Amino acid sequence: MKCWTSFILSILSITLFACVQGQVGQNVSGAYKNGMVVTAHPEASKVGLAILKKGGNAVDAAVAIQFALAVVYPNAGNIAGGGFMVYRSAKGETSALDFREKAPAKASRNMYLDSAGNVITDLSISGHLSTGVPGSVDGMFEAHKKYGKLPWNELVQPAIDLANNGFELTERQANELNRERTDFIKYNAPTNTYFLKKGAWEKGGIVVQSDLAKTLTLIRDKGRDGFYDGEVADLIVKEMQVGKGIVSKKDLKDYHSIWRKPLIGNYKGYEIISMPPPSSGGVALLQLLKMVEPYDLRKLGWNTEKSIQVMVEAERRVYADRAAYLGDPDFYKISLLELLAPAYLKSRMADFSWDEATPSSAVKEGKLSKYQFGPAIMKKESEQTTHFSIVDREGNAVAITTTLNNSYGSKVFVQGGGFLLNDEMDDFSIKPGVPNMYGLVGGEANAIQPGKRMLSSMTPTIVEKDGDLFMVLGTPGGSTIITTVFQIIVNVIDHDVDMQTAVDAGRVHNQWLPDTVFYEKKGIDSLVLRSLERKGYHFKSRNAMGRVDAILKTKWDYLDPGADKRGDDSAMGW
Ligand code: DON
Repeated sequence: MKCWTSFILSILSITLFACVQGQVGQNVSGAYKNGMVVTAHPEASKVGLAILKKGGNAVDAAVAIQFALAVVYPNAGNIAGGGFMVYRSAKGETSALDFREKAPAKASRNMYLDSAGNVITDLSISGHLSTGVPGSVDGMFEAHKKYGKLPWNELVQPAIDLANNGFELTERQANELNRERTDFIKYNAPTNTYFLKKGAWEKGGIVVQSDLAKTLTLIRDKGRDGFYDGEVADLIVKEMQVGKGIVSKKDLKDYHSIWRKPLIGNYKGYEIISMPPPSSGGVALLQLLKMVEPYDLRKLGWNTEKSIQVMVEAERRVYADRAAYLGDPDFYKISLLELLAPAYLKSRMADFSWDEATPSSAVKEGKLSKYQFGPAIMKKESEQTTHFSIVDREGNAVAITTTLNNSYGSKVFVQGGGFLLNDEMDDFSIKPGVPNMYGLVGGEANAIQPGKRMLSSMTPTIVEKDGDLFMVLGTPGGSTIITTVFQIIVNVIDHDVDMQTAVDAGRVHNQWLPDTVFYEKKGIDSLVLRSLERKGYHFKSRNAMGRVDAILKTKWDYLDPGADKRGDDSAMGW
């Protein structure tokens, strides 16, 4: 009972906080069966809904939303970033598209280290050298080629209109742009004045992006070649020469997204369909769910001492595996069968104790060979990021998480092209054991190699129940993405709450290193926190973790949205 009181209090406090900020998430109220989109920005949701209403399917809406977000949500929406799509057709066929960035051909293992072997501050995070070869435009083109119903040009056009006519900044966006001003000046040539204006940006300020409109027009008319070849490619390469960037015309031309087999696992009778490597998201999520499955989380209660212990201890062990074993499967052999073997996952929790925390220093990656029960899966099997979820009239579902990595990526605008470049190279392990921007460590599996994809945490996920669509979800949040998706699934399946309640609930996160349990204020009852501290857990409060955009299909077949009030996220249905 007590835990439910704190669950509800947590939600009320977040709502109250959001109201004080004037940023209440925009949810739909009403019963929708014909389709739904949930995205990080109301303008992008409008675009997606209009596509669904004119007969487009979920992939059509996804393509239109991806381009619209590049205009109205430039801190994460992108054409020069990358991402992952998980797809489930109404008939239950699934696929996963990897449009993750790649290291340029000139990249090398120690490119972010000085001659003494030390990491050069910020080199992998901001500026031209932090940029990987972008994947988003090719990804959208591939997704459309395979599943699209409406013509490509009709899907790109709404973004062109938004760029030409301008869109209104939300208060949050105006503040963000003002905060980034110094970096925009620092990392761009003086002639490059995108998003710079005299005086401060304000809520309601109109942003027109004519260069971006021109780039999008080329993409509309020439498809992927409008970006990876010709004028836009030339502009990217020219921009590279302003800084010390290494993305070449050949890198751009050679880029291709990859269809992969989604990872599918079972949790308490639900099928969890998620992204395989080079994202760590799917592996880690399935590991987490299997490791906590033997515990009755519903009975333990929401964010009680015991449920937090079980979940945090699983997280600690999973992130240790992530650091050692995961990377681009086209470059590094990943033994998925072993990592996901139930006996292995059971063994990982064998030293878990209710009495005290397992210090992270005592946790290492698991020993895999003992649990090999089949051939190891070999290579080549077939805050700022953003996630959107879509269900169309037929019941096809799309989950896409896409990113420039950091907020506004490398902060470098392609002059004349009107768009930002990613700083995804920081997701590689730039030096073994040295934490990246999200505190994640890694080694050989995720070392830099030319043409390799950097390991991601993005976890676009679709959940199926009794052969039918059940939930579509995902979130930004760097290393917290995996644990946030994990908690949302547990909130819905174990704690049996509706989608918005699951999204509103306070979040808790551990990632092995540092040995810290991060929590959102009101995510944990203070008595629970103190009691866990006595058991050896180290807590640190954090600002909002993640911005989940999700859809739940109810047993009456209505689409129930969860649009995260931590952002300007918005759900629209019909
Ligand atoms: O791929 C990844 O895991 C990161 N580049 C995601 C970055 C992110 O979520 C930033 N958002 N807050």
